[in-house]
Amino acid sequence: MDDTRDYYTRNQMETRYYDTVLQMLVGQAYREYAAAQLFGHGISVVPSLHALKSMTRHLQEEIQHYEMVATMYQTLVDQSIDPLVYARLAQQPIDFAQDWFELAMAQFLYDRGGYWQLQEYEDCSFVPYRKVVAEIVDEEAEHQALGESLVVELCLRKEYQAKKQSIFNKWLRYGLLSFGRPNSVGADYAVKMRLRKRDPHFVMQDFITDIKPVMKRAGLLFPSLKSIGIEARNDIDLLLH
Ligand SMILES: [Fe+2]
Ligand SMILES: [Fe+2]
Repeated sequence: MDDTRDYYTRNQMETRYYDTVLQMLVGQAYREYAAAQLFGHGISVVPSLHALKSMTRHLQEEIQHYEMVATMYQTLVDQSIDPLVYARLAQQPIDFAQDWFELAMAQFLYDRGGYWQLQEYEDCSFVPYRKVVAEIVDEEAEHQALGESLVVELCLRKEYQAKKQSIFNKWLRYGLLSFGRPNSVGADYAVKMRLRKRDPHFVMQDFITDIKPVMKRAGLLFPSLKSIGIEARNDIDLLLH
């Protein structure tokens, strides 16, 4: 049976629960910081003042998301999360977008991965996290609309036909990496303790279903997930019709 308790402080938590919370926080802080780096670098490839303003705003918000998670970590652990995030970024650096087209694709897929992952924590049994997640999810929902229409528009242009699929594959991988492996012992535990809602498989499926309409309009196809290094369940639905 699932655990029905809510948790507020460290001394209420068994070691495994505490460790899982820390893992979740570091994972999210890493994604927020990486997003800030991606959009920060993106400022060098934006084609207009309008895009520059929008990218700068987005960058600011990702920094704020990072700080919200970092503050919560500091309260819980009485240590800074920064060194852990820097170490992880050094180990798994985020790629940067080489041009405007790639930046649009990255915004569409990488940012969206974080958005779907975060929704899994909305009812988290670690209560202080719920408030932070609710605030971030609201802002991320606004970011989602930005990338979509742009990706479709650019993908229909002749100049991007040759590379659109490979750039899509690359950022699809980054998006999907946000969810973790399906059917793992760690994910089972997190679900049982109500730290997250569901197994990564279902989050992955929601994300995939969500991007299908845009892919159809943009003329993009799914690669096999294995070919881009993503472990998924065999019954994942990648059909586009
Ligand atoms: Fe964010
Ligand atoms: Fe975002």
